[in-house]
Amino acid sequence: MAMAAAAPLAMALPASAKNSALSFMSAADVGVAGANTTEALTPFEHVTSYNNFYEFGYQKDDPERYADKLTVDPWAVEIGGLINNPKTLTLEDILASVDLEERVYRLRCVEAWSMVIPWVGFPISALLKQFDIQGGAKYVRFETLYRPAEMPGQKSLFSGIEYPYVEGLRLDEAMHPLAILAVGLYGKTLPNQNGAPIRLVVPWKYGFKSIKSIVKIELVEEMPATTWALSAPQEYGFYANVNPGVNHPRWSQARERRLPSGLFSRNIIDTQMFNGYSDQVASLYSGLDLRDNY
Ligand code: MTE
Repeated sequence: MAMAAAAPLAMALPASAKNSALSFMSAADVGVAGANTTEALTPFEHVTSYNNFYEFGYQKDDPERYADKLTVDPWAVEIGGLINNPKTLTLEDILASVDLEERVYRLRCVEAWSMVIPWVGFPISALLKQFDIQGGAKYVRFETLYRPAEMPGQKSLFSGIEYPYVEGLRLDEAMHPLAILAVGLYGKTLPNQNGAPIRLVVPWKYGFKSIKSIVKIELVEEMPATTWALSAPQEYGFYANVNPGVNHPRWSQARERRLPSGLFSRNIIDTQMFNGYSDQVASLYSGLDLRDNY
């Protein structure tokens, strides 16, 4: 498959974007249903300055201010658990083994704001299929780097969550073609505040599932514990599928604020079931009570 350069997106980048350009297949050519929403992109400056990355603080602008300190090169990801050939791969090893694609996805945060982001990455399945997965593996567990010296939020008493940040997917969810590991956005390598150098993006789930700065991926038999479900189990579940019909105990999930949004034009839109990816993913959940499995 031919790799196209990122010309149109690169032109949209502000001069301050200092990350390296990537080569990838453009979303329009990817040929995966749902890979390329045509909604207006959230501008780069909003995508990179309004973030949740508690390792750097809980204010939306903390990650942009403090994440620069994070060393993302060298980087390695340990891949293990129920596989017959566990390995630790450098980021370069991983990138050499996959083809990068652009995916233009809606990102819907559980806090009821959303963005449209042009990611660059590859399906998780492209990585997992390189491993000899044992029959007992039912879930995939992901873990973020734990490095308090560079991640000040990990030392904070007020963070509200425990570290390292951990997340998980059912194995069939992880193998879905829309579930990706992203290494870039807007045509360049990920800014640190967005989860450099490699993060999960699962567009039909609330944003907290999309764990950043991953150092460990494990195949496991039991549903793994996940950070926000550990912190407030009545409020955040394992599944976390975007669902306008099931409210958060403290606020409605029926609508969302699409960024950019201002004081006078809040840009409020209806939230869609599975964040608009029902046609692609609803079948993963047939027979599952989505109210109980929030
Ligand atoms: N991953 C880690 N390690 N730490 C975090 O605090 N926040 C999550 C998710 N991944 C978070 C994380 C939440 S709540 C959201 S909404 C998304 O990252 C935000 O991604 P973005 O900042 O790139 O928009």
